[in-house]
Amino acid sequence: MKALVYHGPDSKAWEEVPEPTIQDPTDAIVKIETTTICGTDLHILKGDVPAVTDGRILGHEAVGVVTDVGSDVSDIAVGDRVIVSCISKCGTCNYCAADMPSHCTNLGGIGWIFGHLIDGTQAEYVRVPYADNGLIPLPEGVTDEQGVMLSDILPTGFEIGVTYGEVGDGDVVAVVGVGPVGLAAIMTAGTAGASRVIAVDGNAFRLEKALEFGATDAVNINEVDDVAATLREMSTDGLGVDVAIEAVGVPATWDTCLAAIRPGGHVANVGVHGTPVSFPIEEHWINNITITTGLVNAVTTEELLDDIQAGRIAPEKFTTHRFALDDIMEAYDVFANAVDHDTLKVILTAS
Ligand SMILES: NC(=O)c1ccc[n+]([C@@H]2O[C@H](COP(=O)([O-])OP(=O)(O)OC[C@H]3O[C@@H](n4cnc5c(N)ncnc54)[C@H](O)[C@@H]3O)[C@@H](O)[C@H]2O)c1
Ligand SMILES: [Zn+2]
Ligand SMILES: [Zn+2]
Repeated sequence: MKALVYHGPDSKAWEEVPEPTIQDPTDAIVKIETTTICGTDLHILKGDVPAVTDGRILGHEAVGVVTDVGSDVSDIAVGDRVIVSCISKCGTCNYCAADMPSHCTNLGGIGWIFGHLIDGTQAEYVRVPYADNGLIPLPEGVTDEQGVMLSDILPTGFEIGVTYGEVGDGDVVAVVGVGPVGLAAIMTAGTAGASRVIAVDGNAFRLEKALEFGATDAVNINEVDDVAATLREMSTDGLGVDVAIEAVGVPATWDTCLAAIRPGGHVANVGVHGTPVSFPIEEHWINNITITTGLVNAVTTEELLDDIQAGRIAPEKFTTHRFALDDIMEAYDVFANAVDHDTLKVILTAS
């Protein structure tokens, strides 16, 4: 089969590799129908994720059809159309039992293994460990393109942004950074009851998109002197927003979020950070604030499927570009140059 294989920093190829086979009785094999590229794949290609080694097939998002199952797989059958979750889980360890499979101990303490520690979904076929737990049947009325946004992007924005931020009725929420992850937080913040959702970015195309995704306001960082002060002014009583969702992963946006929230407010950090940030405890000890961080658990897929079926969210809006799976090298170029191409998510479809 063909697959997108990582060959070290800045090196990848769409090349012929052996087809995966069942290794453990809890495995399934899925023929990929639809997949996509994540910002994390770009981090890997920059060499930021050294656990990914030469020869690894990338990708952790997909919809496909089950072509083989191991002898212990009982909930999933050959022929099922499924969403492949970016988080794998044994289903029985203490972390899985606590709904935190992102740290599944039977997977070595990390639930994100596709395109990381084992071969991923940017291929014609993928082997899925613990298939009963990691595959979600695609219900009638949900399209491939909607389903593939549930592998990673929507649960990430919803769980680590909206849910960890404890967005509630009437809240004023700032989403700082409106790439696909920030947009996923915006799309789901409305379902959590936010009254005002303020998108913050320097990218005019993405800010325009944010308003289509459910933001009530957009702040272009290039057009205001002090972003945090602007957000405080837009809050209910000028004291600060209830929740600031950090969806970039750099010190500047962390600082903005911390300075934008009210006493008693929340910063939900979603961004992956590569450098330290400062936390002025001498200013904030008195403020009764909550800071949360984490890796997505992807435990809200069923809830998000309900939201799609009820028309509360429309994840097909993420798609800006479509390619044949065979053209994945070109799709990577477009995705990596998001500003030049006005890109959100690129959809790859197998023939
Ligand atoms: N916690 C998790 O489980 C998890 C999962 C997936 C992705 N992530 C992380 O979430 C972050 C966002 O992912 P993405 O795919 O949307 O990334 P992205 O790069 O597509 O989007 C980031 C956005 O931030 C904007 N931005 C940059 N600097 C800014 C600033 N100073 N102020 C405001 N906006 C600014 C950019 O214009 C861009 O639109 C990344 O760090 C990614 O690695 C975390
Ligand atoms: Zn991802
Ligand atoms: Zn587990």
